[in-house]
Amino acid sequence: MLKTFNNKNNLVQLITRCVQPQLGRHHYSTNTGDENNKPKTKTAILMLNLGGPQTLNDVEPFLTRLFTDRDIIKLPFQETVGRLIAKRRSPAVQKLYQSIGGGSPIGKWTEIQGKALSQRLDQLSPQSAPHKCYIGFRYASPLVDDAIQQMTKDGVTRAVAFSQYPQFSCTTTGSSLNNLWKSLETKGLESKFDWSIIDRWPLHEGFVSTVASKIQQALTHFANEAKRLNLIGEAAQPVLLFSAHSLPMRTVERGDPYPTEVAATVSAVVQTLGDQVPQHILCWQSKVGPLPWLVPKTSDTVVRLAKAGRNVIIVPIAFTSDHIETLSEIDIELKHLAHENGMKVFMRSESLNDDPKIIDAMADIVHRHISSGEQVANIKQYSLKCPGCIDETGTYCRTIRNPVSCHATA
Ligand code: FES
Repeated sequence: MLKTFNNKNNLVQLITRCVQPQLGRHHYSTNTGDENNKPKTKTAILMLNLGGPQTLNDVEPFLTRLFTDRDIIKLPFQETVGRLIAKRRSPAVQKLYQSIGGGSPIGKWTEIQGKALSQRLDQLSPQSAPHKCYIGFRYASPLVDDAIQQMTKDGVTRAVAFSQYPQFSCTTTGSSLNNLWKSLETKGLESKFDWSIIDRWPLHEGFVSTVASKIQQALTHFANEAKRLNLIGEAAQPVLLFSAHSLPMRTVERGDPYPTEVAATVSAVVQTLGDQVPQHILCWQSKVGPLPWLVPKTSDTVVRLAKAGRNVIIVPIAFTSDHIETLSEIDIELKHLAHENGMKVFMRSESLNDDPKIIDAMADIVHRHISSGEQVANIKQYSLKCPGCIDETGTYCRTIRNPVSCHATA
């Protein structure tokens, strides 16, 4: 007889009550004995990300979901006020998406990464094959709801929630996971899938070395450009600006781990580059609104360095593919700002996108996770809620519903 734990239990309770998972105890499927009913997918990988609008018409629904997400921002009369803010901001945001071709490429890149990841995992981990990646975006199509529906149709029972954010924040990975648990509850599917979570991977060696390789390529381009322009002295030496999406100080103050984990990635990349690493700074981009956010701002830093006669290579450090913040904010807005302030060379290291090295890294992360039988990749940190947690229900943040190893035989 199978025994499952109450879905309302939080993770701390689960850790104390669940036995250590053992390889081979996973319930990938309820019908593996029947060839006719054998599922096409044995292990689902749900790729979680906030997503981006695919067309200009998707911008307002995207912003509405964002501004009504209480894991990101808490507003009085959230539904009404959030919708109003989304409506007011839509035209300006639509212009940004227009400037990069009319929509976000994040869906395209996630699909490409997911297909390659499934194939790679089938080779690496035949015991959990066939694998299939599903995209579950938080604010744009395909939404988590769509992914769950498809997983149900495909007869999936074993699922890995794989955050596409290498560094954990309650505003990104946390919000996506909370949304996943709520969505399953709403559909009455709390017990349908056996879940485990890859919550973060800021120091994975494959991820770190892929970022480092992109910087090495950029350094070569920079050297060629510096030579072409006859730059000398400090002007011929780039400053690396590691740039991550900023976070309101209010979120940092409640104990969100994101700034620490971003800094850890930067440190690991710097170590990987070794002696060839140029001078470098970590800065934060994409602040909105009047409240204080993490500093130094990337834009301020670019202006100051331009005025000091320096040149820069921007390194996006917290995303795995191109998105509005690389293609519009860095490549168009910051580049313009840099040149306006006299900077001669402004470059960006390439996003990871479909680089085979990042696919290998992702496959290694998932393969190790499945093989270990763990419920959560970094259970120590995941089980520690922010000391100032804002989850009003007390049941969503840092939980895992229906975890794979809790299906102990009574
Ligand atoms: Fe971080 Fe709830 S807001 S655990």
